[in-house]
Amino acid sequence: MDASTARDFSRRLRAWFRRHHRDLPWRRTRDPYRILVSELMLQQTQVSRVLEFYPRFLDRFPTVHHLAQASPGHVREAWEGLGYYARARNLHALARHVTRDGGDGSLPAHPDALRALPGIGAYTAGAVASFAYERRAAAVDTNVARVLTRAFAPRLDPKRPRDLTRLWGIAERVLPRTGTATWVHNQALMELGALVCTARVARCGACPVRAACKTGRTFRRNSE
Ligand code: ADE
Repeated sequence: MDASTARDFSRRLRAWFRRHHRDLPWRRTRDPYRILVSELMLQQTQVSRVLEFYPRFLDRFPTVHHLAQASPGHVREAWEGLGYYARARNLHALARHVTRDGGDGSLPAHPDALRALPGIGAYTAGAVASFAYERRAAAVDTNVARVLTRAFAPRLDPKRPRDLTRLWGIAERVLPRTGTATWVHNQALMELGALVCTARVARCGACPVRAACKTGRTFRRNSE
């Protein structure tokens, strides 16, 4: 993919996001702890369900310090209904880790440092770096991988580790130049994956980046 295709893709994507995005609570904050909680919840749970549990969880544990001091049973209880409790256990371990020995509870801003924390993988590290700290970092989850595959590399299979590594490379190449634009870009990729370029159907007729997309370019209006 050449530089002008990448720029065009990101510009169109961000312009679309500004007009069409959903107003979600984790998009109104830059608090790293709150971003982290949302990203862990969203990993295996639908947005509509997370919207119910996220505010409740944060009322109960408003800061990483509150969470660190809680008992495992209370954390589990607050996670009840979201399932996949390993996420809650990891989050609790992380809270204890960053507050231990007089630690101030802050989360690092660099993806590599974030990845060193309990339960944080490449995606979560990129999400916290870009959404909380507005760092220029890629964040590739299942939905983003699908969008990038369809747009730039239809022959890749995101389920194959080697192909996924290549998709991360593509994700880096399409990032805009600045961190603030990266915040919008990464949110917009997720929004496109949720609303337009979904797992079930690629709504190419409604897609803002069709012209810069290998799958969408061949789309004909009447074929939908
Ligand atoms: N899924 C994962 N992260 C998300 C976000 N920030 N907004 C919407 N859906 C998401």
